[in-house]
Amino acid sequence: MSETAQLKIGDKTYDLPVIEGTEGEKAIDISKLRDQSGYVTLDIGYKNTGATKSAITFLDGEVGILKYRGYPIEQLAEKSTFIEVAYLLIYGKLPTTDQLQAFEFEISHHTLVHEDMKKFFDGFPSGSHPMGQLSSLIGALAAFNPSSLKQGLSAEEINIEIIKLIAKMSTIVSWIYKKSLGHPVIYPRNKYDYVTNFMHMTFGQRTEDVEIDPVVVSAMNKLLILHADHEQNCSTSTVRIVGSSDANLYASISAGISALWGPLHGGANQAVVEMLQKIKEDGGDVDKWVAKAKDKNDPFRLMGFGHRVYKNFDPRAKIIKKACDDILEKLGINDETLEIAKKLEEVALSDPYFVERKLYPNVDFYSGIIYTALGFPTEMFTVLFALGRLPGWIAQWKEMKANKEPIGRPRQIYVGETNKDYTDIKTR
Ligand code: CMC
Repeated sequence: MSETAQLKIGDKTYDLPVIEGTEGEKAIDISKLRDQSGYVTLDIGYKNTGATKSAITFLDGEVGILKYRGYPIEQLAEKSTFIEVAYLLIYGKLPTTDQLQAFEFEISHHTLVHEDMKKFFDGFPSGSHPMGQLSSLIGALAAFNPSSLKQGLSAEEINIEIIKLIAKMSTIVSWIYKKSLGHPVIYPRNKYDYVTNFMHMTFGQRTEDVEIDPVVVSAMNKLLILHADHEQNCSTSTVRIVGSSDANLYASISAGISALWGPLHGGANQAVVEMLQKIKEDGGDVDKWVAKAKDKNDPFRLMGFGHRVYKNFDPRAKIIKKACDDILEKLGINDETLEIAKKLEEVALSDPYFVERKLYPNVDFYSGIIYTALGFPTEMFTVLFALGRLPGWIAQWKEMKANKEPIGRPRQIYVGETNKDYTDIKTR
């Protein structure tokens, strides 16, 4: 018999169904509570609210487990490629050789971006933040693809938009970087795999084939895989909620990019490296900065530490820390900020403030150091996070559509003024 929860308000008792997920997670279904009782639930910041039932990503923050479609992140980061993981997230299964080849073929044949899109770059002020550019350019893709605006697109039509978006995002990201340098953009080459093509457009030249170090391609694949999905985080919830109004795919993803930008979310990777540089310039006294982070009168927080869901460790951070050591060694780079990061981690992990609050390094703590080693400037870091998160956003948008989820529209508890009469401006 299925379990029910009972809620007692005054002398009335309400039976609420209990929902259990495939990994044993339990939830109390309150969707009918207001109709039955007149009450809503209040949960500011959705700290204890399940917004959907999803079959894409499972994470257990208490033990530090992350799986995409049932596959542990450790295995995917070690053995798979970003594009294979994208297929897994979006279509639900690991592809066969033929399916993967067809997927890669389709993507590589949609990487060209409409030439008029280049005109946007003339309008952005020089030095404008790449995330502002990215969200505008991805939103603008809807205008360049009017086919995506039709209501009631078939599964096949939706799939074409998905392929186009994955393909064009890498071209747009690399162009944002090239434009930031004042360099000419580099066009995609179909012969390359997705990540090599992206590195070619980012670091390559117009006329020659550049040798992209396989170590770099492998590190990039790993980073993108680790960022590919993370269930109902701020940006993903944004994508789902925007999409729930029947807004097109490009508009929904553009909104997700904006949500990711914040330093409490994806913007943390830029903030971490800026923080490490600041500590270095300040003489490298790690204890002083840990004390600042603990001081409630000081707004400073240790960027790259803490997570809403992980209260043990972030499994992505473990993989990234190792990848960081490997790549710096392979590329022969001696990075002083890495030493500061390690010292900071050591001090923070033994400090009762961080231990009691279960604050561990998160995915962003080490990713910026790898991006720097690969040659990316700090302002590009969150854009790279977005590139990695794209398949997750798409998978979640697609699932929300397939489940025919209703428009996202939370309730509130009004706490403002009541019953005021309008007064003439001269008498106020
Ligand atoms: N440095 C110092 N204190 C912290 C930190 C930190 N980085 N993070 C949390 N705390 C303290 C916080 O002050 C609070 O203390 P108290 O209980 O005494 O008031 C307690 O820990 C709980 O923090 P919270 O802000 O209530 O937790 P939250 O779940 O609302 O926020 C967070 C999670 C990630 C926004 C937060 O830990 C944070 O701001 N971290 C730094 C930014 C960061 O690295 N963000 C990237 C997250 S991972 C990438 C992604 O998936 O987005």
